[in-house]
Amino acid sequence: MTSPSEHMMEALSLAKKGLLTTRPNPMVGCVITLNNKVIGRGWHKQAGQNHAEVNAIQDVFDNLGEHAKSALENSEMFVTLEPCSTTGKTPPCAEAIKKHGIKKVYIASEDNSQNGFSKQAIGIEITEGLLRNEARALNKGFFSRIEKGRPYITAKMATGIDGGIALWSGESKWITSDESRKDVHKLRAINEAVLTGTGTILKDNPSLTSRDANLINGEFLQPLRVVIDRSNHLTGKEKIFSSDAKTLIFGTKDSKIKPENNELCVMSRESLGDLKSIMRYLAEKKSINTLMVESGSDIFDALLSEHLIDEFILYQAPKLLGHDRKTFSKFNESYEKPSTMGFEINSITHLGDDKKIILTPNYQ
Ligand SMILES: NC(=O)c1ccc[n+]([C@@H]2O[C@H](COP(=O)([O-])OP(=O)(O)OC[C@H]3O[C@@H](n4cnc5c(N)ncnc54)[C@H](OP(=O)(O)O)[C@@H]3O)[C@@H](O)[C@H]2O)c1
Repeated sequence: MTSPSEHMMEALSLAKKGLLTTRPNPMVGCVITLNNKVIGRGWHKQAGQNHAEVNAIQDVFDNLGEHAKSALENSEMFVTLEPCSTTGKTPPCAEAIKKHGIKKVYIASEDNSQNGFSKQAIGIEITEGLLRNEARALNKGFFSRIEKGRPYITAKMATGIDGGIALWSGESKWITSDESRKDVHKLRAINEAVLTGTGTILKDNPSLTSRDANLINGEFLQPLRVVIDRSNHLTGKEKIFSSDAKTLIFGTKDSKIKPENNELCVMSRESLGDLKSIMRYLAEKKSINTLMVESGSDIFDALLSEHLIDEFILYQAPKLLGHDRKTFSKFNESYEKPSTMGFEINSITHLGDDKKIILTPNYQ
């Protein structure tokens, strides 16, 4: 007999199909069972399209035809996120669940942007919190935006074993292996925005788009490219202004950027130093759930000191960059004591000759 956790596990797998397309909506999956046998499956593909619950109900009709109505009245639903109870781009799922007389609903994670399904769903048996941690991890960006008012922030650095990220001479463009660089393109595709500073733009002139990611059907949305240009260095001719993706520049009223294929958010120079307000802007005005940071040490350190990095991904190549190296953090300049910032290692994997280390900062 399949357990409720196993049904929810299947709903989580369905939700993951929306990884590259649901933004800014969360990924949601749904399974409907009758006498413990799956009769319908659904997932949310894109904002504005049907939610997972509605797709799963439709799947029951497709599978059972004339028997669907009575089957649904005795069915159980497993959904990875609390069903919506407010009208957005589509009608509330809570109504569809009530209308079809579904008896019991298992919910993995709550959704604080909604009115509380349990309050609306009188007469339906509800079990909340089944595989809650897994469901929250899946939509960590969505939960960060809704609950903290900022995106989930992942900083990436490619380094040698001596911590070098570049040479002062400007040589050594690629430190890491092809495999690591492909992985970075994948990271860009699964994040909704990529942020850097003018130091990186002026030195490397990256385009910051996702390429060579070997993604399923190549179907994904390019991340929004974001640059903080508080000294108005950018001219509009840099590669980040290519038409392959959208670009948002935070600059002052003296910025040289013309709002053509890009957007300029004008702030005072002081406000541009306030990274928390920039993150709030990205969450509230641009609905960004997940942000990847690909900067040099200045922006990295500034974010770290504001406790704004949730996850740090280090691609470490077996190379020494030597005495001419720039290091990825000037950590001791921003903290009084060395080693006051610890990290927890979540995973270490090998990519070509490199190590990929995923860490979480232990902020105190
Ligand atoms: N290996 C890697 O993974 C990797 C990734 C990216 C970059 N890099 C290397 O990093 C080097 C660039 O490093 P970087 O530190 O100059 O670049 P950065 O962190 O990308 O940009 C730094 C600039 O951003 C501006 N800025 C805006 N807001 C800021 C804030 N709140 N705090 C601090 N600075 C802020 C500052 O310019 P103003 O003072 O003019 O406002 C500062 O000079 C390049 O050599 C590049 O090759 C390596």
